[in-house]
Amino acid sequence: MSEMGRRQFLAGSGAALVPGIGLAVPAGAQGSRTGAVATPDTLSAEVGMAVLRRGGNAVDAAIAIALALAVTYPEAGNIGGGGFMTGLVRGRPWFLDYRESAPRAATETMYQAADGSVMDGWSLVGNLAAGVPGTVRGLWDAHRRFGTRPWGELVEPAIALARDGFDPPAQMVRIRDDAQRDLGGANRLGGRFNAMAAGQVFRQPELADTLTRIARQGPDGFYAGETADLIVAQMARGMPRGIITAADLAAYRARWRRPIEGRWRGLGVITAPPPSSGGIALMQLLTMKALRDDLFAGVPHNSSRYIHLMAELCKRVFADRAQYLGDPDYWQVPVARLLDRAYLARRAGGIDPLRPSPTPSIRPGLERPQTTHFSVVDGAGNAVSNTYTINGWYGSGVVVEGAGFLLNNEMDDFSSAPGVPNQFGVVGGAANAIAPGKRPLSSMTPTILTRDGAPWLVLGSPGGSRIITTVFQVIANVVDHQMDLASAVAAQRFHHQLLPEDTIFTEPFGSGADPRVEAELTAMGYRLQMQDYVGDVAAIGRDVSGSPIVAPDPRARGAGRIATVDAR
Ligand code: GLY
Repeated sequence: MSEMGRRQFLAGSGAALVPGIGLAVPAGAQGSRTGAVATPDTLSAEVGMAVLRRGGNAVDAAIAIALALAVTYPEAGNIGGGGFMTGLVRGRPWFLDYRESAPRAATETMYQAADGSVMDGWSLVGNLAAGVPGTVRGLWDAHRRFGTRPWGELVEPAIALARDGFDPPAQMVRIRDDAQRDLGGANRLGGRFNAMAAGQVFRQPELADTLTRIARQGPDGFYAGETADLIVAQMARGMPRGIITAADLAAYRARWRRPIEGRWRGLGVITAPPPSSGGIALMQLLTMKALRDDLFAGVPHNSSRYIHLMAELCKRVFADRAQYLGDPDYWQVPVARLLDRAYLARRAGGIDPLRPSPTPSIRPGLERPQTTHFSVVDGAGNAVSNTYTINGWYGSGVVVEGAGFLLNNEMDDFSSAPGVPNQFGVVGGAANAIAPGKRPLSSMTPTILTRDGAPWLVLGSPGGSRIITTVFQVIANVVDHQMDLASAVAAQRFHHQLLPEDTIFTEPFGSGADPRVEAELTAMGYRLQMQDYVGDVAAIGRDVSGSPIVAPDPRARGAGRIATVDAR
């Protein structure tokens, strides 16, 4: 990457502190009120920018983007799923957990047959795979605490998109086709999604009606009344029957939690606490990497040695993840011990720079790789990093009849049978066993890096367990390899998670990559498993003037927008 790119991203110190999005702003740029959004599609980016231009803050924009994505990005955007929001408002970090919860009738063995074997697909496809959705309650709670624009105004763009329709991008149609195959049948998603075709306006009138109820009644438009009745009625259709009840919906609550906070190479890190594994894993990776700077010294980016060293860090982190992490309301997660420097120094101490260490017996979890992320900053220096999900593309494949939205299959993020791998290799222990009301362990890692207390890099990604390694690599690319943000996001990514043993998942070694890398890794004993792409980052940084720069991921259909907004 160029020296100019490096200077652009790593804005110089010694500039004045002003209450703007970029902290260090040269005197001439003081007072600029610039906001930015990086989202997984163009329509939601426009919705977010319109909110900022109207004087809404980052949280207002995030709410409108999330609701718009429930319409324009149905494969992962949602009101039938859940997620996490990491925020920085008026200099204060916070975290909102609106993860789905297990219905009250859920049991530890609900996906097992009498002989203890796991029932094929039950935690993935159909009504029984769905956890109680958290998105609407989460967005509402974020609005009550931080919102400045009327709730109905933030829902309105989503209603219009559902009612009036839009041209579905080719990638959206392709993902629908893939999802239908995975979900076990071309008709699974019902008439409207089946008929969706490139070049034909895609309208979702039932979803427009549901969103209208949410606009008028807030969470009661979803968790009570007509929408709740439609969800409960849906549970009785098809086999196996679902178990979400009216009482489950009425009882659902989002939770404000203390984010994981740390410091790394002079930057503040604000990221996701349990029930996500993401924040702890990210801090462990960053800390161990810094503790082993000796091993990384002079090692070229994405060389075989580099990928091996990163995989060694990941191996240790994913072993901890499988053993210790679960919903903190049900399981005591030893957060402080997991982040203790002396502990991490011991963990990283045994890395052999040339050979993979033998895979220990502790086994990690694997997750469905689809989810979606967006980042927002406003002109007052507030930031939101939001990752939310229905788990697989199109979730459980269940569209609530009459309500027009998809239900998640988040129950699959629990260990279906503790200690016993299911068809996707998901294994885990008691920490992530199913219990009524419990949240399944997640890897979502919505993160904000700060410099002198102000947002410096806002980012996150979909990708199941790959989220953790994706966010880690982008941060390392920016800070340790001094890439400009676009290059840091675009660079080839790889992933390792302890199991499958000595396997490195990697994007194709693109042009410019050293052709020897693949052969060298194989010679070290690694198996390489190619996948089309690892993660889909939506990131906002700042340039040398303190203004935001956006870097949606070139891998998918992400979009970024920057606008100077009127001072309020
Ligand atoms: N369902 C993906 C995650 O929560 O990590």
